[in-house]
Amino acid sequence: MKKPEMRSCLEMIKPYVPGKPVEEVERELGLKNVIKMASNENPLGPSLLAVEAMRSNLKKMHIYPDGNCYYLKEALAEKLNVKTDRLIFGNGSDEILSFLALVYVNPGDEAVTVAPSFSEYDFVMRLVGGSPHPVPLVGPDFSYDFEAILEAVNEKTRLVFLCSPNNPTGTTVKKKDLDAFIERLPENVLLVLDQAYIEYVEDADHPSGLDYVEQGKPVILLRTFSKLYGLAGLRIGYGIAPADIIRELNRVREPFNVNAMAQAGARAALADSYHLERSRNLVRESRKQFALGLAEMDLKAVPDQANFCFIDLKVDSREAFESLMKKGVIVRTGDIFGFPTYIRVTYGTAEQNEKFLSVLKEVLTELQ
Ligand SMILES: Cc1ncc(COP(=O)(O)O)c(C=O)c1O
Repeated sequence: MKKPEMRSCLEMIKPYVPGKPVEEVERELGLKNVIKMASNENPLGPSLLAVEAMRSNLKKMHIYPDGNCYYLKEALAEKLNVKTDRLIFGNGSDEILSFLALVYVNPGDEAVTVAPSFSEYDFVMRLVGGSPHPVPLVGPDFSYDFEAILEAVNEKTRLVFLCSPNNPTGTTVKKKDLDAFIERLPENVLLVLDQAYIEYVEDADHPSGLDYVEQGKPVILLRTFSKLYGLAGLRIGYGIAPADIIRELNRVREPFNVNAMAQAGARAALADSYHLERSRNLVRESRKQFALGLAEMDLKAVPDQANFCFIDLKVDSREAFESLMKKGVIVRTGDIFGFPTYIRVTYGTAEQNEKFLSVLKEVLTELQ
């Protein structure tokens, strides 16, 4: 077949392989009530206020969405106490990661990342012909080695991606460490601080990052409605950055990148403090439930500040994954992050957590 040649930088990208829908797993394995604890979603579902707002918007679906997300932006700016020109919305925060690469990365440029971390940073760098330079997290608690991250920055570096709480480890940076790091980071490097899980953080020393934006530092914070707000299916996330950066990102944004349903749902979810508090409480309780359950199996999760945890099972996590799935629980294997004996598990409802813990006990007995 004659066709144009694919851009060579894309050879490094493997198409994303999604897991099977839960219904298909149930059909194939002849199971009912399979639980997916693999994608860090909110097990309580979306806010009912969001559902109601979306329902009442259904009849307006013949109209293009507001390309500026006017009302949502106003509501979020008020909630965060930032000016509206500091905000940009994306079709998931994933889309804003693509904007960042499109705006700031030329072919041959580099970004510093940490490993293990969220795979989208590598993806967006490869997409534009740049390359990620991963720096390992260190020690049993997967801490950030800021000296090593700074050493990895060179004249080709345009972006540094830090994720806190980090996916998949759940670990966080401390404000004083990040303050010192930003002071030493060359000014022509933009720090992308991915805060997809920030609403779950309990540690008072964790940086909100909003002060960096206010001070006009080259920093962008990325947040999402996919996790605590329970709206992953809508695809909506946002960036908070100094106005100059937002203006540049808007150059590559499609006019209608955030659909009308997402804008309506997100706006209502922002105001649903009951749902947000319930969702946060559930994670708080889940951490305790996991700590007790895992201790009985002589296991310990990496201390996390997110809605998931990373556990060293000390057995092949692919095998554990298969056995867990056959018993009706889907988790994420650690091999995709370079840690083949770990699994990443999203906290569920108390009942789901209980099922996971009891099924894990059976699986480990079988595998050991
Ligand atoms: C660290 C991190 N950033 C961003 C995202 C994606 O968020 P969104 O659904 O807004 O694209 C995820 C989703 O898993 C994530 O783990």
